[in-house]
Amino acid sequence: MRLVILENAEAVADFACDYFVDQLKAQPNSILGLATGSSPVALYQRLIGANQRGEVSFKDVTSFNLDEYIGLAGDHAQSYRHFMNEKLFDHIDIDKARTHVPDGAAADPNAECVRYEKEIQAAGGIDLQLLGIGVNGHIGFNEPLSSLASRTRVKTLTKSTIKANSRYFDADEFQPTDAITTGIGTILDAKEVLLLATGATKAEAVRGCVEGPVSAACPASALQMHQHAVVVVDEEAASLLSMKEYAQWAEQRHIELEQA
Ligand code: PGA
Repeated sequence: MRLVILENAEAVADFACDYFVDQLKAQPNSILGLATGSSPVALYQRLIGANQRGEVSFKDVTSFNLDEYIGLAGDHAQSYRHFMNEKLFDHIDIDKARTHVPDGAAADPNAECVRYEKEIQAAGGIDLQLLGIGVNGHIGFNEPLSSLASRTRVKTLTKSTIKANSRYFDADEFQPTDAITTGIGTILDAKEVLLLATGATKAEAVRGCVEGPVSAACPASALQMHQHAVVVVDEEAASLLSMKEYAQWAEQRHIELEQA
């Protein structure tokens, strides 16, 4: 695992933007795994800027989002499809027909999960998967106790996730309690994984992800089994790591060796 500790959230977004731009320059028809939540927003803003300045193109990109709420159609303001359109797709040169988000309004959610998993595989698999991390260590909506081999399926959200996400919903608004999420096995199949975490509220989850035992109690710890996982955090999110000094030294060496 490559652990990159940066000063603040701005630096994390800058790093992630460079990482995506490098990926798209090397492989313009990349298949990207994308995420919602607050963690990727600053990255998406930077990618929009880079696209509008002509520094990077998304015209040959295919994307698959991690998850969607069950019960919300794509045109619902709280759906993740709507989030992606608003925060990224509407502002870049991507072909929207090649952007994929599970259908939260599907009549048969289980069938939708099977269809979505097959669609990812038929596209050739994900080249670069972006992830946030929940305060409980979830990735996508793979809550604690998720099988580390899981594929796309219906998952009931934990009370802590429902509470964390309630900030997006009005007090009297319907808030879904279940979601379709790609599985931990699906995520581990991606060629590269880039996880972003910022702020002290993520410190415990980051510790579980990076230094904890590989355990369904912290789904992000499954990334320890991935050959090409990059975890990018700010100082606050890194505050509980015992290997912080080594990680910073190793990252410095990584940069020096790349430049040599
Ligand atoms: P956040 O959510 O980026 O809004 O903190 C991350 C997650 O729950 O996966």
